[in-house]
Amino acid sequence: MVHAPGNPLPGGCNRQHAIASLNIRAKGAQVPDANTPPAHRSLDPEKPSIARVNDYFLGGSFNTPVDRAFAARALRALPAMKTAAMANRHFLRRVVTYLVENGVRQFVDLGCGIPTVGGVHHVARALTPDTPDTAVVYVDNDPIAVAQSKRLLRDDPATVVLDADLRHPTEILDHPAVHGLLDFTRPIAVLMIGVLHFIPDRDNPHRILAGYRDNLPRGSYLALSHLSDEAASPELQAQVRDGIRTYQNDAGPLAARSHATLASWLTELEIIPPGITIANAWRATTNDPTGTDHDLVLGAVARLP
Ligand SMILES: C[S@@+](CC[C@H](N)C(=O)[O-])C[C@H]1O[C@@H](n2cnc3c(N)ncnc32)[C@H](O)[C@@H]1O
Repeated sequence: MVHAPGNPLPGGCNRQHAIASLNIRAKGAQVPDANTPPAHRSLDPEKPSIARVNDYFLGGSFNTPVDRAFAARALRALPAMKTAAMANRHFLRRVVTYLVENGVRQFVDLGCGIPTVGGVHHVARALTPDTPDTAVVYVDNDPIAVAQSKRLLRDDPATVVLDADLRHPTEILDHPAVHGLLDFTRPIAVLMIGVLHFIPDRDNPHRILAGYRDNLPRGSYLALSHLSDEAASPELQAQVRDGIRTYQNDAGPLAARSHATLASWLTELEIIPPGITIANAWRATTNDPTGTDHDLVLGAVARLP
């Protein structure tokens, strides 16, 4: 789903239309269709958006000059930032593959971002062509990510796109559209790929995870990937600190966290082997990239017993 030249959009998104609609919204105009950003949040054209910057790192087109200027600053501080964004996408693919192979057909993708090639429903359905019914709830709180996801998925009855904040687990899980799509008597996988590092400690990520854990059926899964500099060299750790400062100054909170912190969030769950690892090493295949640049993302999948 990456909106990039030479990278056609599954679902037939009209790229020109989409970019035009991004520009319209950046000027604050009303767009009278389902893609209109929520009224309670107006876009600040001077502020970079985490979703659009991530889209830029992944080679997409849903980003503005402000996003690209910020991305350049972030990459100057931490050149591995782009590699980390790619590591999240690779991890997502392997996690969804593992979960589908273990019978999961229902997903909630929190902080899904701007629709990108290799989204959850693409990966899952490619693995189960005979039963293309994998249900996916996509959730983001970025107006462009929500609008473009809605546009791409408007004809897909097995997906729901929610404009919501992942910090409110019960609001998301209790949402009528979610209950209309997901069967809460069967396992559900909640994915938090590359997003929890944007949740500061004051918002209590552990409590947020517990909110999902405690409201999912038995046999469900939580999967997460997270920025971490534990395995990095001192030089790379200094770059991570600079990268975090760059985000905090201009885009919003960002935090690197340790293996021990992630483990403390996954209490009362069975952590799936190989455990909390460098995301790129998690059930990696020979096609997955390696190298110290990739060591900045930790990943884990855990199951509700
Ligand atoms: C770095 S992107 C990751 C996107 C995608 N998961 C991936 O791995 O490519 C982080 C996404 O999380 C979203 N996000 C950040 N905080 C959020 C929150 N509190 N609730 C919902 N989404 C959030 C951002 O808007 C952005 O789209």
